[in-house]
Amino acid sequence: MKASAPGKIILFGEHAVVYGRPAIAVPVTQVSAQAEVSESSRPGIWIDASDVGLHAELSTLPADRPLAALVHNLLAALGHKPYPDLQITISSTIPIASGMGSGAAVSVAVARAMASALGFPISDEQVSAFAYEIEKLHHGTPSGIDNTVVTHSRPVFFVRGRPIETLDVGAPFTIVIGDTGVPAPTKEAVSDVHKLWESDQARWDAVFDEVGKVVQSARERIATGAWMELGPLMIQNHRLLQQLTVSSPALDRLVAAALEAGALGAKLSGGGRGGNMIALAGEGTTHAIAAALKSAGSPRVIIAPVPASA
Ligand code: PMV
Repeated sequence: MKASAPGKIILFGEHAVVYGRPAIAVPVTQVSAQAEVSESSRPGIWIDASDVGLHAELSTLPADRPLAALVHNLLAALGHKPYPDLQITISSTIPIASGMGSGAAVSVAVARAMASALGFPISDEQVSAFAYEIEKLHHGTPSGIDNTVVTHSRPVFFVRGRPIETLDVGAPFTIVIGDTGVPAPTKEAVSDVHKLWESDQARWDAVFDEVGKVVQSARERIATGAWMELGPLMIQNHRLLQQLTVSSPALDRLVAAALEAGALGAKLSGGGRGGNMIALAGEGTTHAIAAALKSAGSPRVIIAPVPASA
């Protein structure tokens, strides 16, 4: 049984989303994670994930290693005892540790492929909940945005702890994603923001409120098809993220390069400190922006069209 799940990118609201403000994220279907689960003739439960150099039998792995924890959780919940002999093969084109949801996508693909191989129906809510448990191992205190977008594979307006709200997209637009090539330590960035917040809650709550307002305005513009007005909101969100200390010289350099090449707006995306930035391409500027990001040193640029809602 095979299953796949897309990558994701946050358009607005990262970090503040951990503190209850809304965020907007969209799936990135140009990259994906795949899982295949089949009954095996080898005894045990074998996990092969060549991309991360993992070839091991489940019982030999530390129980808190994310993939092992996921498979243990799934087997416990799916109620299979004794465990059947299984082969789980995982591959992914989603860049790791760059804020594109690779961990969540692997979890979602494995959960769906395991459930169908073992003959258990599984709801989207359950898939998302399994992925969320594993996100905690990756990130400490995740907001839940990654597993939500990746599971449902559609744009979302996300508020921590609330049921998923679909984001209406009134007209299609194009995002250019530029990787800094620097691994993004989301856990560290989230914990540093937490220290900042603890040092002066009133001050940083006000910054989170500003981010929340940006996200609300962006939602309206996306819904009404006024995406060409998103640029200033992206620039404002990037400035607020700089205040939160999660930008970096590499991110700022790519943001500046995109704006010089004609992007309507640009900002870092995800945990920051490294990982990706995004730029909004007006009509006919996509390739110029992509070229500018490459010449400013981005090792990988992805063009991600966001389609209008059906
Ligand atoms: O780096 P990413 O895309 O996984 O996103 C992290 C987003 C944060 O808001 C910083 C953390 C979170 O869990 O929402």
